[in-house]
Amino acid sequence: MSLKSIQRKRGYTKYVVDKRLCYYEPSRDKLQKTFAQELSSSLAQKQKSIHPKFFYDKKGSQLFEEICKLPEYYLTRTEIGILTQLYDKLPSHLNGDFRLVELGSGSSKKTRILLSILERLHKHIEYFPIDISKILKESSTILLDDYENLHITGIIDNYESGLEFIKNYDNKKNLIAFLGSSFGNFDYEHGLIFLQKVNSSMKKNDLFLIGLDLVKDKTVLEYAYNDSQGVTAKFNLNVLSRINSELDGNFNINKFAHHAFYNEYKNRVEIYLRSLENQTVEIHKAGMVLPIKQDELIHTENSYKYTISKIKEIFSMSGFRIKDIWFDERRYFCLVLLSKND
Ligand SMILES: C[S@@+](CC[C@H](N)C(=O)[O-])C[C@H]1O[C@@H](n2cnc3c(N)ncnc32)[C@H](O)[C@@H]1O
Repeated sequence: MSLKSIQRKRGYTKYVVDKRLCYYEPSRDKLQKTFAQELSSSLAQKQKSIHPKFFYDKKGSQLFEEICKLPEYYLTRTEIGILTQLYDKLPSHLNGDFRLVELGSGSSKKTRILLSILERLHKHIEYFPIDISKILKESSTILLDDYENLHITGIIDNYESGLEFIKNYDNKKNLIAFLGSSFGNFDYEHGLIFLQKVNSSMKKNDLFLIGLDLVKDKTVLEYAYNDSQGVTAKFNLNVLSRINSELDGNFNINKFAHHAFYNEYKNRVEIYLRSLENQTVEIHKAGMVLPIKQDELIHTENSYKYTISKIKEIFSMSGFRIKDIWFDERRYFCLVLLSKND
């Protein structure tokens, strides 16, 4: 498909690919500046860290797709199993004309189940994927071929800016989906702020569907984030290659190792990059010269696991009402359907 026209709107460039597909993208300069600014602050702290949203350049998004197919990574298969139950269970909650908005849409593979549900209910279906990764362009184009009555408006940006975009967009009801347990990347405090943001972006009759990974056996969790083929390690290390290519850094990825374990006290899998020796790394476009000690850890991700009581607490604290919760047979994962409390 070729781009037919380009317009600028609300700080984004709008690309119209087809009469059924357009997407909005912030300028490359803005993205690069944000990446450099955030890194120069997070890598300067005592506990060095890189935000997980930076995993997803083209290679990172491809590696995440490989992770989803790994035998140890139960999350994707389990969530798809629960989504499949929704063919029968979701329609009773969808009174009227709903558009699907998806936060962190990635390859939009799971989305197909939700689109198929909407397709049975409505003549035309509208989908607003929101993802920081450019994978959105390719995923959207593939969907168009399979859903004749689908119209897509993509927003290539972070969750918060995407939510700002859909807020007051029009009067149509939104079903906002947030799958893949990505909410687990937030700690408690930032998770509540994020949920309040989702809540305040919703109209009275909008719905929010969120996938959450549940507390379970430590061994199952540690296998899921330390696969035998080393794909998760490649995914984790790729963020350093991204810094090298986009911000003119000189990380030697052979001098770092993937390190992931389950912290039972905090109910979270913690993921780090461990330095294999004393070294100094430069990131020119962030103006950084970074001494790193042998065995020092750079934090790259937390993946929180939830109990039912915690789920009830966070949603009640952020102004939501739980309309339904669906589980798989092993109770490894759940999907929660929420509405605004008022
Ligand atoms: C764990 S993957 C999940 C993908 C898909 N939803 C699934 O369930 O398989 C997270 C997705 O969210 C996107 N993402 C991560 N952090 C983001 C952020 N802060 N804002 C917007 N998108 C983000 C990534 O690019 C990636 O496509």
